[in-house]
Formats: sequence, structure tokens, C-alpha cells
Amino acid sequence: MNSAIRKYWPQYKWSNVFAMINNMKRHPRRNTEPFGDKLVVITGATTGIGYYTARKYAAMGAHLIMVNRNPEKSELVRREIAEEFGTPTEYVIADLALLTDIQRVGQYILSLEKPIDVLIHNAGVHIESRKETPEGLEVNFVLHYLCPLIITRMLMPKYQRDRTGRIIFVSSEAYRFAVWGLELEDLQWKRRRYSGVKAYGAGKLAQILSMHILAGELAPYNITINAMHPGMVRTESGKDNGRLYQWYKKNIIDKYSNSPEVSAEALYYLGASPKVTHTSDVFFHLTTEEELAPPARDLEAAEALWKRTRELFHEKGVAL
Ligand SMILES: NC(=O)c1ccc[n+]([C@@H]2O[C@H](COP(=O)([O-])OP(=O)(O)OC[C@H]3O[C@@H](n4cnc5c(N)ncnc54)[C@H](OP(=O)(O)O)[C@@H]3O)[C@@H](O)[C@H]2O)c1
Repeated sequence: MNSAIRKYWPQYKWSNVFAMINNMKRHPRRNTEPFGDKLVVITGATTGIGYYTARKYAAMGAHLIMVNRNPEKSELVRREIAEEFGTPTEYVIADLALLTDIQRVGQYILSLEKPIDVLIHNAGVHIESRKETPEGLEVNFVLHYLCPLIITRMLMPKYQRDRTGRIIFVSSEAYRFAVWGLELEDLQWKRRRYSGVKAYGAGKLAQILSMHILAGELAPYNITINAMHPGMVRTESGKDNGRLYQWYKKNIIDKYSNSPEVSAEALYYLGASPKVTHTSDVFFHLTTEEELAPPARDLEAAEALWKRTRELFHEKGVAL
């Protein structure tokens, strides 16, 4: 950790923090052009940002595939969208914290005939205490980092064939909580005291670092990949946390938060606007390009994480 402090401390700039604060005051740019009968795949669309984003794309004419874990909620959203907008909407049920489900979803999307015009990796959680999946992996790490990475890499043959598409990671400014980067020898939070905020930040940082690697792999096929902070918005995030958190969320966080419709507007712009057709490997605060904090633009760290992740895939039998 000391070496990380020595590495990143000189690179930290107040101007970077002030830029983020300024960006918090901006409204997202809007794209008013229809989406047409193109395909959008979105994870975690039962509620919150995913739900409003699914509605936004459907309202603009998109064909939707949602990847959700709850069948009842999924059916309600599907029916609501079909009745209100008349657009084709399907869903796949998967627990995206499980490698087996993630790979099943990847296989299914890979088998689709239609190109995936926009793939939005949105599903996420904010949990206070460490949770391990039955496969022995920490939930934050799988959901925010491994899941988008595995699905995106599984789709490579499709992207090579289709040569069109945009990928968006719903990220978070909370990646900044991983102030000194990732602990490569303890990505699963087994050795350190668990902090919900830090583990969330680390998952989002790992996701951004993987974006740098994926952007290079996708560039020859005309596929863009970007990460975005969706604003601070009122959603069900943290719904399973304790009473103190619920009080804090209700009385503090939600009071200062926007409607997730703001995030949906930004996600539509990033997925559909001609102004960002060729933009890749960029972090957006809603729709404003923002310079990343030092640990998130560290390409050596991205390579090291990728190497460690490949070892993990080998251990867990994930063939990529
Ligand atoms: N809200 C904010 O202010 C904020 C700020 C920055 C970033 N974000 C990011 O925005 C994204 C969406 O969050 P949100 O605020 O809209 O939260 P939310 O209201 O809790 O929605 C989260 C979505 O993810 C799904 N999900 C959670 N765990 C899953 C799993 N294991 N498998 C499949 N789906 C799963 C949820 O499904 P269920 O309905 O089944 O629970 C739900 O559809 C997350 O990536 C979050 O980190 C949010």
C-alpha cells in the first residue's frame, strides 16, 4: 500500500475533484432522435436506473432484452413496457453474482442474430457487510467487475462479426473510495476488515480498469465502451442494509438525490447520440467527459488486474 501512496499521491490534483463537483451541477445532454427498431440489452432493469432506462429506450422505439434476477418483477416491467410503448421486450432470468448464470447469459446473447446496438451493464448493489456467493466470490467484485467483463468478452466473436455496438458500464464516482488502488492479493476482501463503501468503490474501480483493456480489444471492430456515473439518484440501492443505513438513506441521501429519470436520459444520450459514436474508453459524469482519478487511469494496474483475473478464471473454470 505504501508503494501505491508513493505512486498516486503526486498525481492527485484538486482540480480533478473540483471538476467532479462542477459536473454534479450539470444536467445531462439530451438526444431526441428515435432509436428505431434496434436492440438494447440491459442488466438490472426491474427497478431504479435500469427500469427508467429500459422505459426510455422503449419510448424511443428500441427492442429490449432485460437481464434480471426476479421473474415476477421482470414480467411486470415487460408487460408495462409492451402495453405502454408496444415495443418488443423480453427478459432473461439470471443471478449476475453467479458465474454459472453469467456464462449462461453470455451464451444466450452470443446466439442472437441481431447486432446488440447498446449493451448496458447496470445491475449493482450496495451492501454493508461482506457477502460471499456459493461459488466463493465476494458479491461486489462479481457483480460490478467480473460480470460485465465476462459477458463482454464472451460477446467478442459477435462483435467481430457485427462490427457495430456501444457498451456502457454504469459506474460510480464511488470508484474514488479506492483511493490507493486495488489490493490485488485480496480482491475478495478475505484478509482486510470489510467496508461496504470501499468494497463498492473497489468493484467500480476494477470495472473502469477493465474498460481500458476491453476498449483496446474492441476498437478494431468499431465497438465503443464507456463508463458513466449516473448521478446521485433515488433508487432501491442499499435496500437490504440495516436500520441505521435506511434512516441515513431516507433522511439524507434521498433528500439530496435526483430522480433516476436523469440517469436514463444520460444513458440514452450515451447509447444513441451521433455525437458519441466514436468515443471510447472515456468516463462520463452523466454526459460530461471527466478525467479519471489516478488509480483509475493506471494502465499498469489495469494489466496487473487482468493478469490476476485470468488466474482466477483458470481456478474457477471460466474459459475466456
Ligand atoms: N443510485 C445511485 O445514486 C447510483 C450512483 C452511482 C452508481 N449507481 C449504480 O447504478 C446501478 C443501478 O443501481 P440503482 O441505484 O438503480 O439500484 P437499484 O434500484 O437497487 O437497482 C439495482 C438493479 O440491479 C439488480 N440486481 C442486483 N443484484 C443483482 C444480481 N445479483 N443479479 C441480477 N440483477 C441484480 C436489481 O434487481 P432486483 O430488483 O432483483 O433487486 C435491480 O434491478 C448500479 O450499478 C449502481 O452501482 C447508482
